[in-house]
Amino acid sequence: MDFITWATSPWGQSVPTHIAFGLMWVAVIFGFFFMVVHTIYVAIVAPRKHVKISAAEAAAVPERVPRHSLTARLFHWIMALSMFALLITAFLPKVGVEFNWVLYHWIAGLLLTVSVLFHIVHASFVMDFWSIWPDRQDVRDSVNRVLRFFGKPAPQPKRFAKYPLENKLYHAVIMVAGLAVIGTGLFMMKRVPSIFTPRNPYLFSDFTWGMMYVLHGLAGVGFIALIMVHVYMGIRPEKLPITKSMIFGWMSRDFYLEEHDPQRWAVKQGKKRSYAGSDAD
Ligand code: HEM
Repeated sequence: MDFITWATSPWGQSVPTHIAFGLMWVAVIFGFFFMVVHTIYVAIVAPRKHVKISAAEAAAVPERVPRHSLTARLFHWIMALSMFALLITAFLPKVGVEFNWVLYHWIAGLLLTVSVLFHIVHASFVMDFWSIWPDRQDVRDSVNRVLRFFGKPAPQPKRFAKYPLENKLYHAVIMVAGLAVIGTGLFMMKRVPSIFTPRNPYLFSDFTWGMMYVLHGLAGVGFIALIMVHVYMGIRPEKLPITKSMIFGWMSRDFYLEEHDPQRWAVKQGKKRSYAGSDAD
């Protein structure tokens, strides 16, 4: 299968036009494959967690631990809404459902663009910016986890900070794919009629336009698998407390203490913080 479709320009040059849209089925199959393998891993292979929580540690934590501020939750759900709208408008026509998809697509695209711009500013100046990037402890712990899995001697890994390493890596991948669809999508607005910018299909050469459509399509197809994995994780029974915290803003003391290290992710007690800062302001 050719991953890219090609055409011949009026000057006889071979130029890329789109990705081969069959790739979307590759993404769907990958998404399902991940779900099956992960379900089997959790059910049969994954080591069980045994976390000992002292009474003193529990007493220092409120019953409800703030996790996501209202602003952060609103951003998440607006972004999710625009993401689903983008996926539906982009891929339904490819499976034969005809409608004026381009209009709804770029409107959802602009909503995503604005919400991501807001998120970058909010994360840089209000939230705890570094909480979503892997740190040395994450790397040490994941090495120890792998060693222990294979029966080798290694210290007990610490509990997570605010985000486990997998979530941090997922965020990095989705950030790259997101910036790719937004960057290319904004230029592609020059090819479609809109109220924001006059059409100018001659802004780039045919080859550059083609590559832009290919990059947009590749990142877009990547989103099919990324969103499938994300939704699957969100509805797994042991992850439901995390999903609920994205709705209500808090998680229970028990869940917090089982999963998170208070030394690495602090709880806010009223106006007073214990340990380091939390970004649930
Ligand atoms: C998850 C995010 C997105 C996905 C899955 C997605 C997917 C797609 C796909 C598959 C196409 C067809 C490409 C082709 O024909 O080769 C497309 C076209 C397009 N997208 Fe997106 N896109 C996303 C985000 C965006 C964003 C953020 C914008 C704008 C800011 C945008 C604007 C456009 C435009 C203007 C077109 C061109 C339509 C045309 O030329 O007929 N997209 N998108």
